Amino acid sequence: MANAFLVAISFLQSPVPAAAVDPTVNLSYSQYIGTPLINGITQWLGMRYAAPPVGDLRFEPPRDPRYHGTPQKADTANCLTLSVFAPSNASSHTNTNKLLPVFVFLGGGGFASLASANLNASGLIAAAHHAIVVVTPNYRVGPYGFISSEAAPHVTANNGLRDQRKALQWVQRHIAKFGGDPRRVVLGGDSAGAASVVLQMGAFGGDDGDGDGDGLFHAVAGESVSFATMLTVKEAQYQFDNLVIRTGCAGGDGGRVLACLRGRSAEEIGRHSGPTPYPFGGVYPPVYMWNPVVDGDFVPELTYSAFGKGRFVRGIRAAVFGDDTNGGTLFVPRGVGTKGEGNGFLRDQFPWLTVGMLERLNGLYPNPDASKGYGCWYRQTAAVYGEMRYMCPSLFITQALRRHGLANSSYAYRWNVKDPEQVAAGVGVPHVVELNALFGPYNIPGGQNVSSGAVPRSYYPDGINAHAVPVIQGYWASFIRSFNPNEHRCCGAAKWTPWRVGGKNLAGKRLLFDTGGRTEMEKLEGGSMNIKGGGVDTLDGDGEGQWDDDDGGLLKRCEYLWSIGAAIHQ
Ligand SMILES: *[C@@H]1O[C@H](CO)[C@@H](O)[C@H](O)[C@H]1NC(C)=O
Ligand SMILES: *[C@@H]1O[C@H](CO)[C@@H](O)[C@H](O)[C@H]1NC(C)=O
Ligand SMILES: *[C@@H]1O[C@H](CO)[C@@H](O)[C@H](O)[C@H]1NC(C)=O
Ligand SMILES: *[C@@H]1O[C@H](CO)[C@@H](O)[C@H](O)[C@H]1NC(C)=O
Ligand SMILES: *[C@@H]1O[C@H](CO)[C@@H](O)[C@H](O)[C@H]1NC(C)=O
Repeated sequence: MANAFLVAISFLQSPVPAAAVDPTVNLSYSQYIGTPLINGITQWLGMRYAAPPVGDLRFEPPRDPRYHGTPQKADTANCLTLSVFAPSNASSHTNTNKLLPVFVFLGGGGFASLASANLNASGLIAAAHHAIVVVTPNYRVGPYGFISSEAAPHVTANNGLRDQRKALQWVQRHIAKFGGDPRRVVLGGDSAGAASVVLQMGAFGGDDGDGDGDGLFHAVAGESVSFATMLTVKEAQYQFDNLVIRTGCAGGDGGRVLACLRGRSAEEIGRHSGPTPYPFGGVYPPVYMWNPVVDGDFVPELTYSAFGKGRFVRGIRAAVFGDDTNGGTLFVPRGVGTKGEGNGFLRDQFPWLTVGMLERLNGLYPNPDASKGYGCWYRQTAAVYGEMRYMCPSLFITQALRRHGLANSSYAYRWNVKDPEQVAAGVGVPHVVELNALFGPYNIPGGQNVSSGAVPRSYYPDGINAHAVPVIQGYWASFIRSFNPNEHRCCGAAKWTPWRVGGKNLAGKRLLFDTGGRTEMEKLEGGSMNIKGGGVDTLDGDGEGQWDDDDGGLLKRCEYLWSIGAAIHQ
């Protein structure tokens, strides 16, 4: 708190810059009044981009917002709204040469919640020397965003993705009024948000949907992209049916069933929409159940198939994808004590994993020593799950983009910034932890309170990893401004070279973000892989519970996971 206070004081001492973008913006359907901040940024929070999805619009694709006569203060977020953060001195659409590049960021949360709603983009904009505009839309999650039914009553699938699309169309139409350039949009996101980035690229088989070929976005940046099990609409029917049954809405024709579901309170829907086991395999509920489905329309096919064949939107000029070293640790139950429990957990998440596939995986991931306080198969299971769901999908996208158009502008990274408390807690460098650095610790919900635990302590100013913050912000700000992470990168950070394939074997280099904000290029090789020690996260043997950096064998394991990706419905 003391730090935040001092920062606020120093802002007060510098003159407040004059606003060039009018805080009152006329969107024709509504006028919104933003708030100019003393840090030279104006924020508009919670502007409606689609009508509230309530009443008859619950489970419907997003509709245009209704006309609103009187200007509204844009100071709180709501459902199907977005926030815009723009430098106060940006020039609005009167001067198209001076429009600034735009970063649209989709938060994650497993399509079940919005884990990072209300991110504050002030830190990232400051790192970009006030040369970018940031947009953070929310979208429907859980059954509201991802229920589907092909039987009567028919319910349109993937409404959460359609919401995101609507927000991207809003950006095309309106962002110039905030000083943003609709021709230079970088679409970013973390976890389910990064999965959304990928699904938006593959939407309608790569048709950008607006007919003019300009595209809704022009570069992409995904952190810890998540490849969940994707069902077809037919396969997902049991989710709809269970909700109908448990809310007491069964009976009558399709219209009555829908009307009944629409009449149920959010509390009732919430109580009856928790995850249940997949009926195709597995015993316990998956971590997340409501996911995008293959509907033959917005999502024409599985992601592994679509990207493997290059069926995604053209006109993307550059891409960044990466992941954290220990992406699986937060999801696997700590007590996993036997091979059976570990393999069972995997099959609960991916019900199409066969006995043969699990056998092969157990060979590729030998069980390392147990660490104190954990079940004997926790680490092994976390390693398989992390690579199957996050790490290898991320590298697959990088490789697919390199092969299909981005020969020199597909960039990969690994975030290996170790926070001592997280390492001591046994989670290593966990899923999406780099989000805290990308936006800056005080700009994360809860992060204003240093002792809340919302942000790893070592990421705050004076912490051992404080420097990692300007380093990642510098790369991202540079990427958003120029589609190249190097041009405006921070202070001594390594030159980030694009992913390339060398020689006969699959090989490439990715940027390694390391403890203390150190950076270097890290080489991955496929053919000559040394999988001694399994290459999984083994203990360093120093007795401190440190996680090992050895990634030997990663590409080899990924090649196997890529080969079964479509078979297990990713
Ligand atoms: C806002 O824009 C709309 C459509 O361009 C226009 O009809 C309306 O008069 C404008 N409102 C104000 C207050 O300028
Ligand atoms: C806008 O203001 C920031 C500081 O608040 C400054 O760094 C930047 O150069 C200014 N941009 C323009 C276009 O005046
Ligand atoms: C973002 O941070 C700035 C500077 O600390 C603050 O003035 C502003 O109110 C914050 N915005 C949000 C949405 O939290
Ligand atoms: C990519 O870079 C390589 C090496 O610098 C160059 O030979 C090649 O022409 C470039 N390809 C494209 C499509 O720009
Ligand atoms: C900060 O978080 C801690 C730990 O959750 C809590 O005890 C404390 O009351 C919070 N402080 C404020 C000012 O909210």
